[in-house]
Amino acid sequence: MPEPLDLEYDVAADDYQTAGEASNNLKETLKMLGLPSSVIRRAAIITYEAEMNLVIHGGGGRIIANIDEEKIEIKTIDKGPGIPDIALAVQEGYTTASDHAREMGFGAGMGLPNIKRNADTFEIETEVGKGTTLRTVIVFPPDTGKE
Ligand SMILES: Nc1ncnc2c1ncn2[C@@H]1O[C@H](COP(=O)(O)OP(=O)(O)OP(=O)(O)O)[C@@H](O)[C@H]1O
Ligand SMILES: [Mg+2]
Repeated sequence: MPEPLDLEYDVAADDYQTAGEASNNLKETLKMLGLPSSVIRRAAIITYEAEMNLVIHGGGGRIIANIDEEKIEIKTIDKGPGIPDIALAVQEGYTTASDHAREMGFGAGMGLPNIKRNADTFEIETEVGKGTTLRTVIVFPPDTGKE
């Protein structure tokens, strides 16, 4: 990584047609930057799951990725309903997904656990009725990021 880079994507609410575009774009950009494949894989999982949560639960929002020599920070910000119980939401299998979302194949309750598993740092700030901010960091493996 020659210099720090900031990427931002808007994600629309309840739009299953365009859902996944932002995370796909980000993944292609990370490939072009030549980041390690393990980092790209983890970032792609985090971004995809976080994007789908914006679509399904968050009322849409924004994905922000900041890349520097040593890490990538991926954040999502929404002004949706918030998460009343974070510990519960992070449990495998917990979901409040609508019937419609389930018909589209979502709602296994595996998104947040998957994000957590793939992140070195995992933080959720949320307020019911105000919105949710998810912050994750992936630290690059030691032999990279020095070019
Ligand atoms: N941005 C958000 N705003 C409000 N609630 C959220 C948000 N993200 C997650 N949640 C809540 O946390 C629960 C668990 O999220 P998680 O991503 O683990 O599962 P899911 O989205 O329900 O199903 P899956 O991700 O497997 O399709 C959701 O069902 C929802 O209640
Ligand atoms: Mg999810």
